[in-house]
Amino acid sequence: MSNQDKIQELIEKRTEAKLGGGQKKIDAQHSKGKLTARERIDILLDEGSFEEFDMFIKHRCTNFGMEKKQIPGDGVVTGHGTIDGRVVYVFSQDFTVFGGSLSETFAQKICKVMDMAMKAGAPVIGINDSGGARIQEGVTSLAGYAEIFQRNIMASGVVPQISAIFGPCAGGAVYSPALTDFVMMTEETSYMFVTGPKVVKTVTGEDISTKDLGGADVHASRSGVSHFLLENEEEGLLLIRKLMSYLPQNNLEEPPMLECHDPIDRIEDTLNEIIPENPNQPYDMTEVIYSIVDEGEFLEVHRNYAKNIIVGFARMGGESVGIIANQPNFLAGVLDCDASRKAARFVRFCDSFNIPILTLVDVPGFLPGSGQEYAGIITHGAKLMFAYGEATVPKVTVTLRKSYGGAHDVMSCKQLRGDLNYAWPTAEIAVMGAQGAIEVLEGRNIAKIEDEEERAQFIAKKEQEYKEQFANPYQAAAYGYIDDIIEPRNTRFRVIRGFQSLQTKKLTNPPKKHSNIPL
Ligand code: HXC
Repeated sequence: MSNQDKIQELIEKRTEAKLGGGQKKIDAQHSKGKLTARERIDILLDEGSFEEFDMFIKHRCTNFGMEKKQIPGDGVVTGHGTIDGRVVYVFSQDFTVFGGSLSETFAQKICKVMDMAMKAGAPVIGINDSGGARIQEGVTSLAGYAEIFQRNIMASGVVPQISAIFGPCAGGAVYSPALTDFVMMTEETSYMFVTGPKVVKTVTGEDISTKDLGGADVHASRSGVSHFLLENEEEGLLLIRKLMSYLPQNNLEEPPMLECHDPIDRIEDTLNEIIPENPNQPYDMTEVIYSIVDEGEFLEVHRNYAKNIIVGFARMGGESVGIIANQPNFLAGVLDCDASRKAARFVRFCDSFNIPILTLVDVPGFLPGSGQEYAGIITHGAKLMFAYGEATVPKVTVTLRKSYGGAHDVMSCKQLRGDLNYAWPTAEIAVMGAQGAIEVLEGRNIAKIEDEEERAQFIAKKEQEYKEQFANPYQAAAYGYIDDIIEPRNTRFRVIRGFQSLQTKKLTNPPKKHSNIPL
């Protein structure tokens, strides 16, 4: 064979490998509204930047006549490329090849990119579309999964890891995405569950559809397993690019700083009007967020889950920040188990990757009741407190309105190492709300008043006295727990100046093997 023939042979082999399971399978994939593994990579990465590994790898299985069924690449496309010029490592499971099922060599390919990403200090993006462990291989595919899980664990907090679920992801396979930082799912074409509907029916008798058991809606809104709900794959791939723009390459780097075209001293007069006169009336916290961040751009994470707290990324003065904010528009912004877990995980992500944290507080307290107590609100609330208290990144907190009781402490108060704690003049920082406080303090006196009207007047008077004394930020400011009381319309400027003053912040925790966060 001449050298030219050898080159031609390579070109032909590449063309064959790029077809994966063949045109018929590709057509079937498209007919389900799904892209192929390679089409997904093309959209995800900068044009022409993808460098592939292991295109010619072959599985070693000889069971069930598998030795006769060889498809180059063995069902997963792996390699590296760039997003906005920054290197990322990628694996994209190819459903057209043995249903994207995971073999020993398939796992080996994923492990290779994960190892290289760790060496290079670059993020890993995994696109999942797989029938799970390759049944013909038996136990080697289980070992392959475990090899991946171990790498997910070691990479956690070192390089960002993002999982897109664009098809089936079932059985133990779900645990690799679950170990990564962000999971996203497409609305009609993806599902995740530990055991599928058939097994569920056999074991428990429950009759449930694939979608109701583990569809994207369920995981985005009920379980919280998925952080983003996508209409389609393209939306997800572009979202990953956007998400990456807020993140550093690894835990030793700072997130990218962009030029800021939005004046940092922009005054936002609407904020002086946003808090309703009636303290029980809600307002939309996202309006506050959109009005103070650069160009009104906010990437909300977990938008459909635990809506009483908002978390997400934005830029302020060009700097990437993570925002955690109570949402008075949903359950009055109360902290419950789900909200605590959601926010705690986000705080820890930001802290792992050197992203400063802005906390916007309007919280009436923890949600009372046996439901929450039995569900472990004590432990879940402690997670959020732990996350804030352990975080060493710059932390700026602004209290807009309510900040009561334990929830005040948890939401990045000064004593949990909040660096700068501001309050609006509408802030109410106290042990509890007026109603609850008067019931406790004046219970005996209230009981003695027989006349209903007289009793109501007495309660109203006492509540008013309490509010005047406690439902304001000045008592906290008098103790130095609040660094300054700021005009709402100046919030953007004050927060950015705060973060700028903290850019050189240095804080380390005591040496230890690792902390024991109340999981
Ligand atoms: C080998 C598989 C496979 C698997 C699918 N295929 N899953 N081959 N191992 N796990 C093959 C099919 O035989 C078929 O091959 C092709 O992929 C496409 O599959 P279809 O069934 O035709 O596709 P579809 O109708 O879309 O259904 C997709 C599916 C179904 C729902 C994923 O294939 C399925 O239920 N697969 C089995 C899922 C499963 O139970 N996996 C093991 C989970 S346990 P041909 O040649 O006909 O085109 C697990 C343990 C992990 O994963 C533990 C980690 C710790």
